[in-house]
Amino acid sequence: MSKAKLYLQYEKQKLVLGPQKKALFSLVSNYQRPTYVYDLDILKERVQIFQKALPGVQVYYAMKANSHPQVLQCLHSLGCGLDVVSGGEIRRAQECGFKPQALIYSGVGKTHKEIRQTLEMGLEQINVESIPELRRIAKIAKEMNKKTNVVFRLNPDVDIETHPYIATGLHNNKFGMAFTDLPELKTVLKENSECLIFKGVSLHLGSQMHNLSGFRDALKLLRPVYEDLQKEFPSCDTFDVGGGLGIFYDTQEIEAEEKLLQDYANIVFTELKGLRAKIQTEPGRWLVAHAGVLLTQVQYLKKTSVKNFAIVDTGMHHLLRPTLYGAHHRVWTLNEKSENGTKKYDVVGPICESGDFLASDRDLSELQEGDFLVIGDVGAYGFVMRSDYNLQDPPEEVFL
Ligand SMILES: Cc1ncc(COP(=O)(O)O)c(C=O)c1O
Repeated sequence: MSKAKLYLQYEKQKLVLGPQKKALFSLVSNYQRPTYVYDLDILKERVQIFQKALPGVQVYYAMKANSHPQVLQCLHSLGCGLDVVSGGEIRRAQECGFKPQALIYSGVGKTHKEIRQTLEMGLEQINVESIPELRRIAKIAKEMNKKTNVVFRLNPDVDIETHPYIATGLHNNKFGMAFTDLPELKTVLKENSECLIFKGVSLHLGSQMHNLSGFRDALKLLRPVYEDLQKEFPSCDTFDVGGGLGIFYDTQEIEAEEKLLQDYANIVFTELKGLRAKIQTEPGRWLVAHAGVLLTQVQYLKKTSVKNFAIVDTGMHHLLRPTLYGAHHRVWTLNEKSENGTKKYDVVGPICESGDFLASDRDLSELQEGDFLVIGDVGAYGFVMRSDYNLQDPPEEVFL
């Protein structure tokens, strides 16, 4: 039987990362503080697999997932554009060599200043999230005597069975616009045809999609809407299917993730077959999550009547996902086994909140104070969500 494909695994009992099996223990000799460790080989491999599965579809990486310059430069070299959501992200994208024509601007709260910046630079497209936003864009564009491409982010009210905080395609979410908004949106377009160029529709149903039936339903709902809009607005030529493809944090089944990608691609090509449209996609997590791990050191081992706590020097201030979403990240010791067998641990941080945990009830080799642990699959929505709560120092970031 062939060995399962893994990005984080033991090789000769030592923990290694990526296709080239780079050893992680080499990092501990100079250890100063918790460290996000990235492997760009993983990122490159994921992008290439994604692009191959979706030929002809332009990838706009959702840079909110990980906006480290080296990550962005790597994506740039592979021909990706970016999905940006703030003036800060636009600046970072520019610094990393992205042309304005490679940027899609999403987000529900675009300020006057950010819209002005967008129009000044001539970004490829603005994904509009509300009627007042479209009116604001039109007003500013008129004042500046500029024209801009706009795409309507539609909210199809479809459930993708994910954590409620990362579901975005339901009517009780703040994202996108209902189909019933279309008559007014069309009026605004027509009233402002000298500055608004209508390009098409977009959707983003949320993150960590594993069951793709909601995604299929959404494309079925949006297709006829797009076709009707295209009849009325000949400039309409863009269909943005959003991001959200899930990964398997608990098992790290890479082959299953690649199969999920294939199913996703089949849905896109089946549901949009024959449509006159440039298809765009905005993946974040699927591309970058496996490319990062977080190295941390055990400070104390604390035993209570019901728990063994491993208190480490990182926590919710460096990796918020477990606290925010109850997210599961696998925890690894640097060596495969200690002679002393395993024990159940709660891996927790130094922050003064009981919600400050990284993992609960995990079987790990018996730990000693000073041991190192590695938290897996933190390349997406890891470092970018850090805070300085409790005035803790930030984590470091290094590339292997
Ligand atoms: C508009 C938009 N596109 C794409 C993404 C990327 O999602 P994911 O990282 O799940 O692929 C997000 C994530 O929040 C988003 O808000």
